[in-house]
Amino acid sequence: MKRFENKTVVITGGSTGIGLAVARQLVAEGANVVLFARGQAELDLAADELGQRCMTVRGDVTRQADLGSLFQAVERAHGGIDGLFVNAGIAEFVGLADADEAHFDRIFGTNVRGAFFTIRTAVPSLRSGASIVLTSSVAADIGAPCCGVYAASKGAVVALARCVAAELLERDVRVNVVSPGPTATPILAKSAVDEATQNRLGPFVAQRMRMGRLGDAAEVGAAVTFLLSPQASFITGQCLAVDGGMSGL
Ligand SMILES: NC(=O)c1ccc[n+]([C@@H]2O[C@H](COP(=O)([O-])OP(=O)(O)OC[C@H]3O[C@@H](n4cnc5c(N)ncnc54)[C@H](OP(=O)(O)O)[C@@H]3O)[C@@H](O)[C@H]2O)c1
Repeated sequence: MKRFENKTVVITGGSTGIGLAVARQLVAEGANVVLFARGQAELDLAADELGQRCMTVRGDVTRQADLGSLFQAVERAHGGIDGLFVNAGIAEFVGLADADEAHFDRIFGTNVRGAFFTIRTAVPSLRSGASIVLTSSVAADIGAPCCGVYAASKGAVVALARCVAAELLERDVRVNVVSPGPTATPILAKSAVDEATQNRLGPFVAQRMRMGRLGDAAEVGAAVTFLLSPQASFITGQCLAVDGGMSGL
């Protein structure tokens, strides 16, 4: 029997990158997946690729009404949730001088507020034995220049996860975090920086890429799939770095 047979996993930010890599692995292992993101075109492409066990819901994690619609749709289609990958996120890298209120609100609105309300809205649908995984980032651990707001948002994700893990113990729900290093996904192009920022951030990151390469989304996905699986049944409140040694060496 496959590890995720008859299981339903919701993936926010499931249309591209790490979220899509996790969806591929889960479907191959028998799961029903529900992908949530804002862009319809990317959701349609993912659904075409993944086939009948993939459902998509279009929406924005910063909008409570959209999150309500997501979990209502999941309840109607599957009756409950066995796994939740809280992965939707954005990155912007700017120095202190350019880090204005709008930048702060965008990053925290999606990465922290969005993650919190995703979990809060999902809780009534979680089945006993369910597993939640959130996506942090190596940025939270390495003190990189021009990353303050993004890094703070990803540090907040780890703190949030630990508290939710404690609170959901009584529901027999585990909560863990995966912390990727720089990984080849569309986010790299979306968060392209100006020359001045590149000159400060680029050498800092390059020097710390201990394996000398970017991660692959499937490498991060394998860790997420493990944490979602019954093989991780005694693991909760943990943050697993998948960063090629960037934070640990
Ligand atoms: N790639 C890296 O180097 C790296 C390293 C460390 C951590 N991470 C984290 O990994 C996670 C996944 O990123 P990725 O690298 O796979 O990049 P990605 O391909 O850009 O994926 C981001 C996903 O989140 C969705 N999303 C963004 N804002 C959203 C919102 N407000 N509501 C709903 N969905 C939203 C995107 O779709 P739409 O834009 O269509 O909504 C997309 O599906 C993020 O949390 C990111 O911070 C990435």
